[in-house]
Amino acid sequence: MNPAVVAWPSHGGQASALLARFGLPEHHPLIDFSANLNPLGPPAWVPERLAELVSGLARYPASDYTAACAAIAHHESISPEQVLLTNGGAEAIFLSAALHAGGWAGIVQPTFTEYARACRAYGVAIASTALTGLDFKLEWEALGTTLEECDVMFLCRPNNPTATLISRATIEALLEMARARDCRLVIDEAFVDFIVEDDERLTPLLARFDNLILLRSLTKFYTLPGLRLGYLLANADTVNQARSYQPPWSVNHLAAELVAPLLSDTGFQSRTFRWLREEHSRMAKALGACGLEVAPSRANFFLVRPEPGGETCAALFERLLHSGILARHTHNFPGLEGDWLRLALRDRADNDRLLEALQNVRDA
Ligand SMILES: Cc1ncc(COP(=O)(O)O)c(C=O)c1O
Repeated sequence: MNPAVVAWPSHGGQASALLARFGLPEHHPLIDFSANLNPLGPPAWVPERLAELVSGLARYPASDYTAACAAIAHHESISPEQVLLTNGGAEAIFLSAALHAGGWAGIVQPTFTEYARACRAYGVAIASTALTGLDFKLEWEALGTTLEECDVMFLCRPNNPTATLISRATIEALLEMARARDCRLVIDEAFVDFIVEDDERLTPLLARFDNLILLRSLTKFYTLPGLRLGYLLANADTVNQARSYQPPWSVNHLAAELVAPLLSDTGFQSRTFRWLREEHSRMAKALGACGLEVAPSRANFFLVRPEPGGETCAALFERLLHSGILARHTHNFPGLEGDWLRLALRDRADNDRLLEALQNVRDA
């Protein structure tokens, strides 16, 4: 295939399409900074537990997933009726769109591209607003107008790809404003487990706001994207309605059985927080020192672009690829249009390789 015609892949972790696009061999060695996964995972006990669970594959899973929902409810301090187990955060996004089929959704760009795709799949019309400035702030007035028009607004917290976090106080104000306009907020918190501060958790707001749906993923923090595991939290009626759109046995037996042990693995959680505290602040400074503008990150990844006068983002992406570093391009994020790169936080050795590559590009 002619490399020039290979399209930009729509998600991270798709190295082969990018290698083909740039005419590099299939086995060109790469460190993948394009997928935002916890480098410490999956927890070491997972393979053995999965092997033990294999015998259960000969039966259908119980479709109410009682034990998994109870474990999530305990973890989140809410009732099991407020929990819907899903086939990854992705299924939770599509179920949220299904709830508003034929309606209007607000999407704040740039953000995760699957909200728009899910809306299109269910005939939900989209009204977009934009985050502004280098710190990707919400435009309060524009948001108010959008909420007026919409049945639902999708927000991502922390936001992929900007890594910025809308504060809990702002979310509370938005929920009030949305409630007054009969609008629901769907807040995708696929990366929220990487936020160390407890006072940023939104789960307690479920008790006060019927117009709130929270979406979570277990694939990022526990490094299990191939297993597919996530959940949706809302009031019991909304959960039941979302369940009515879910295919039967949507979550497989292996995934469902891992929920309780994953959520109770406090050792893995503490090790992850230790790594995050050390590497996040180190890398935020070091990336800036490599001649990059860095959007204020509250997640396990960074959105960066070359400082004005430096080389173009496209050239940087290609040179990193040649040096064995796979960054996430931003061509399919409205508002970024390829002018930024997203870089995951990895372990210290890999992060040092990235810094070395960036320094070499700078010195060349
Ligand atoms: C913001 C966001 N939400 C949801 C998902 C989907 O995650 P999952 O693997 O749980 O389906 C992703 C995956 O990249 C994501 O970035």
